[in-house]
Amino acid sequence: MEQYIIKGGKPLVGEVTIGGAKNAALGVIAAAIMTDEPVKLHNLPDISDVDILLKGIEALGAVVERPNVHEARMMGGSITTCIASYDDLRKIRGSYYLCGAMLGKYKRAEVPLPGGCNIGSRPIDQHIKGFEALGAKVVIQHGMIIAEAEKLVGAHIYFDCSSVGATINVMMAACMAEGQTVLENAAKEPHVVEVANFLNSLGANIKGAGTDVIRISGVSSLHGSTYSIIPDQIEAGTFMLAAAATRGDVLIKNVIPKHLEAVSAKLVEIGAEVEEFDDAVRVVASKRLVHTNIKTLPYPGFPTDMQQVMATVLCIAEGTSIVTETIYENRFMYVDELTRMGASMRVVEGNSAVIEGVDKLTGAIVRALDLRCGAALVVAGLMADGYTTVEHIEYVERGYEKFVNKMCELGAAIEKVDSEDAKAIQKFKLRVG
Ligand code: EPU
Repeated sequence: MEQYIIKGGKPLVGEVTIGGAKNAALGVIAAAIMTDEPVKLHNLPDISDVDILLKGIEALGAVVERPNVHEARMMGGSITTCIASYDDLRKIRGSYYLCGAMLGKYKRAEVPLPGGCNIGSRPIDQHIKGFEALGAKVVIQHGMIIAEAEKLVGAHIYFDCSSVGATINVMMAACMAEGQTVLENAAKEPHVVEVANFLNSLGANIKGAGTDVIRISGVSSLHGSTYSIIPDQIEAGTFMLAAAATRGDVLIKNVIPKHLEAVSAKLVEIGAEVEEFDDAVRVVASKRLVHTNIKTLPYPGFPTDMQQVMATVLCIAEGTSIVTETIYENRFMYVDELTRMGASMRVVEGNSAVIEGVDKLTGAIVRALDLRCGAALVVAGLMADGYTTVEHIEYVERGYEKFVNKMCELGAAIEKVDSEDAKAIQKFKLRVG
């Protein structure tokens, strides 16, 4: 089993370039099958979730070529089935976008109920409500969501909660429905805007993405396009927080600073310096950080996907911090892992963690329990005294491209090793001292 071994205590210094956004890429890749013409996608992140989705699309009969890891050339014209493969696609969350895409284009889709990180119950009732409002019949059978319609007709749909997935999925189906659809209480996350922009580049007619009302005029067919994915705000935020946590100085390049405002504001509040450029941010911290309170909210609020890394940084900030999670019911499983490293943290009322800042964390063997938990434990390892081993790194590799290489280029002492390879572990320890 592969794991990360980290020797903490070194400040991160230098420059890092952020890759394409995972959650935007998954929506765009699924939407790309809605045209029969060729689509070229650039700036894809080199992560396992993207590979799994592309393989699943190839299995539908689409042509998928990868000239390099950051590029895909796709052609949906050769798709022969609307039944997505159960075994692979059920492992990732983004596979459910194939439901909206195939329902819109073929008026039929059979897609596995989505997997993804175990961060609490993740219902899809709002997706189903939207598909049904457009005229589809939706059933769940044998682990598959089966949606079909004679025809789709535009509708006025009010989402009961702000859901990135439901907004994107229903938006895709509505693109090829007859007439106008209005989505109210739509999610405003950058990846919703990104999928809308991509669909518009294929000839769709979507207005208002990025606000809570999206208006879609259906079209009968879509055409080819060449498109480049936006940078990943969560990868960028992770490096920003890691820079501050290690009292480092890092220029994070290829970002959209507007998407990072919630993280930048909190970093400034806890005593780091954040300098914004057109497409980069520099984070510097030279003294002990101080406490703050965090509440996760839909965009433009503080992102739930940054909650675990932010809480980790607050573990060594002076004073008491309170972190409240309002999006997911079970995103505090990492608290026990950080406690092994000497953090003083307790969960109260199920959705808040109270953190008493300690002077330092100490290295330990810890386990990634989901993607962002894994990233948080790496940051904890970088801050801690001594050696930290992070197990189950397959979670981290679902969403962070070349995480170890990027950290090493900033001066971190971290290596991916096989847990059975005692020599490699010994060699790492000798090298980093
Ligand atoms: N919700 C419902 N019913 C629905 C859909 C959602 O009640 O039909 C609830 C969820 O239970 C949750 C809230 O609405 O409480 C928000 O869920 P949302 O649908 O926005 O999340 P998602 O689409 O399943 C995406 C990202 C997540 C990210 C969230 C929030 C992808 C593949 N996943 O999930 O990313 O946390 O939006 O921004 O885009 C991650 O990258 O680590 C990750 C978990």
